[in-house]
Amino acid sequence: MRIAVCFNRVPEILLRGEEKDRISEEGAEHEAASVHSALAERGFDAVLVPLGGSIPEFLGELSRVAPDAVFNLCEGFWGDSHLEMQVAGLFPLLSLSSTGSGPFALGLTQDKVLTKTLLEAHGVPTPAWRVVAPGQTVPDCGGLAFPLFVKPRSEDASLGIGMESVVQTAAELEERVAYIHATYAQDALIEAFIDGREFNVALLGHEAPVMLPPSEIVFAGHLGAPIVTYEGKWEEESDQYTGTLPRCPAPLEPAEEAALRGVAERAYVLCGLRDYGRVDIRMAHGVPYVLEVNANPDISPTAGLARSARVGGIPYEDLIERIVRDALARKYPA
Ligand SMILES: Nc1ncnc2c1ncn2[C@@H]1O[C@H](COP(=O)(O)OP(=O)(O)O)[C@@H](O)[C@H]1O
Ligand SMILES: [Mg+2]
Repeated sequence: MRIAVCFNRVPEILLRGEEKDRISEEGAEHEAASVHSALAERGFDAVLVPLGGSIPEFLGELSRVAPDAVFNLCEGFWGDSHLEMQVAGLFPLLSLSSTGSGPFALGLTQDKVLTKTLLEAHGVPTPAWRVVAPGQTVPDCGGLAFPLFVKPRSEDASLGIGMESVVQTAAELEERVAYIHATYAQDALIEAFIDGREFNVALLGHEAPVMLPPSEIVFAGHLGAPIVTYEGKWEEESDQYTGTLPRCPAPLEPAEEAALRGVAERAYVLCGLRDYGRVDIRMAHGVPYVLEVNANPDISPTAGLARSARVGGIPYEDLIERIVRDALARKYPA
């Protein structure tokens, strides 16, 4: 069986954001190499197919490789994460099964406001929120008490998240909203700050997903605020990185684990995720609030999802093989 492992080449110029945001792009090649070697180890004829700045070249390479299925690791097109769904949409058009969530789930979950609206409509807890478009004045957040949290509406990997995301006053709120508008050229999402434990909940499957052992972020006391900033996620030498290390399995009472499972499974299914995904949750006073749904989380051996799988008794090669076999079993168009 021939599997094309498709992944993004790091672009020369970033379209938005800050230059340091590039680090989060650079993991893609390592991730692809790991998936490639896991597949090869399991006897698949795995071929790396990078997606650079040209779709015709990518399509030409794919047709030359003529795979039985695609292992899709693409997170956008040439640095633009907003085009992630369009890339995933190429494969069904070519009658190729691909791993991971399809274009609709990828597009939906990239938009935190749409995702929250869907979750709320189905009674899944998510922090109370307001949204501010560029050019609009910051609304009166009456009803939402400080501290509040400000983030971009449609980014991931903690882009645009710093200690300044936690705001205590109207002036700080206004300043951070202006920063999101200026730097990320999109709506700012204001949320109630959830002061509690934070979990990454990985799941496998499709309509009846299985939760893997949840991972908890252990926040050190020296942090300005207990949150995962961009620096904390990517800059390994920083105090924020060493102060936000994961612990898996998370120590949980049975009732807490059941609450996480219920909410994570509902969010996964409502958003239409497939094969693997991750739901980020903060729990306060026993209520698990969904921060976001990741339809295309990092699947490197060192990332959280693979760690949760290992803790749950699924070694990396088994995880990758299981995902690709699920894709191969799907009928066109999928
Ligand atoms: N409403 C909130 N209350 C408290 N912390 C939050 C809130 N929203 C986000 N955070 C913090 O910011 C981090 C990144 O936010 P998240 O919504 O998961 O975006 P991303 O897509 O960048 O991962 C979270 O891991 C969490 O630490
Ligand atoms: Mg997150």
